[in-house]
Amino acid sequence: MAIKSIEQLELNGKRVFIRVDFNVPLEKGMVTDDTRIRAALPTIRYALDKGAKVILASHLGRPKGGPEPKYSLAPVAKRLESLLERPVQFAADCVGPDVTRAVSGLASGQVLLLENLRFHPEEEKNHPRFAQQLADLCDVYVNDAFGTAHRAHASTEGMVGLVKEKAAGFLMLREVEYLGGVLRNPPHPFVVILGGAKVSDKIGVIRNLLHSADVLCVGGVMGLTFLKAQRENLGASRYEEDALTIARQILAEAFQLKKKILLPVDHVVAEKPEHSQPNWVVRNGEFSDAEMALDIGPETRKLFISALENAGCIFWNGPVGLFEITEYAAGTIALARAIANSKAVSIAGGGDSVAAVNLAGVADQITHISTGGGASLEMAEGLVLPGVKALDTE
Ligand code: 3PG
Repeated sequence: MAIKSIEQLELNGKRVFIRVDFNVPLEKGMVTDDTRIRAALPTIRYALDKGAKVILASHLGRPKGGPEPKYSLAPVAKRLESLLERPVQFAADCVGPDVTRAVSGLASGQVLLLENLRFHPEEEKNHPRFAQQLADLCDVYVNDAFGTAHRAHASTEGMVGLVKEKAAGFLMLREVEYLGGVLRNPPHPFVVILGGAKVSDKIGVIRNLLHSADVLCVGGVMGLTFLKAQRENLGASRYEEDALTIARQILAEAFQLKKKILLPVDHVVAEKPEHSQPNWVVRNGEFSDAEMALDIGPETRKLFISALENAGCIFWNGPVGLFEITEYAAGTIALARAIANSKAVSIAGGGDSVAAVNLAGVADQITHISTGGGASLEMAEGLVLPGVKALDTE
């Protein structure tokens, strides 16, 4: 694939449409986590410095077919204004005569944020007329919305071929480099750590990475599902019943490929997944009916951390315990610190692992933290994302 960088395009005086992923959490009209806004700043600043008339567009949440005030991007415009330290104009819609007028009024170095693209159902339907309306707003198209690149929508796919010039922003390029390039051809030994609750969402990722990984450490509900697939008695622990057959197939595939899958050998357990409950450690084979595993135990921690020694590359997706509750965060935090201390190229993806990296206070020691949830999983699965494919100039 040949994807141009924004740096390869002439932007001066041009109307530059930048698709960003400003799908950020809001509470009472305030942005509660601006990571995704900050992640797009280098691209926005670059375009402004080059004299572009910048038009920013994003979705927010999943409105049901029309405008819903709680999904307005107005609070995002405010936060962006303070981060950019320059005025950000806000359009009350993303297409229509008022938007066209606002775009015509833009001078070089000015920025306009459009209202939520998903207030028009045509966005998600990738409707050609809506795509054309968006394309008519600009001379240059830039996609920096990696988090949405797995969606073939009008703003990520439909409009791209309708604009003369197209390129990726810095965030998109970095995400594609790590989750596409590095994961496809990782420095070895390549260690994959997978956890989290939804096994079925990550089957494709395991299947894909099984080929390139040297070791896979599996914890969380995912690890418990694999143990259950081996007919371990896990007391009252949570596991994914529907994924047992596929877990067995994966274990068999790993055996055939001579790949090591490390599963928990001990667990921090309690009788309720709640704060301030008595908790203790049990080994596999020792569960009573009422005990539920809520974190990996100390032996498993050692086992997983020793797998990281001398790693050339580490990919981490998903916590290995119920880390939102302090008592069950130790395993996930210990792993986050071990990854941060490793000399390996480290890549963390998915909302929960990012939250865990932040909780452990090691975000600046991880080589790449993906802003994508579903998009980073699909890319780790080896899929070609429609939003990335649309940027291909070959
Ligand atoms: C995300 O948060 O994963 C992206 O912004 C995509 O959002 P969506 O799952 O609603 O399409």
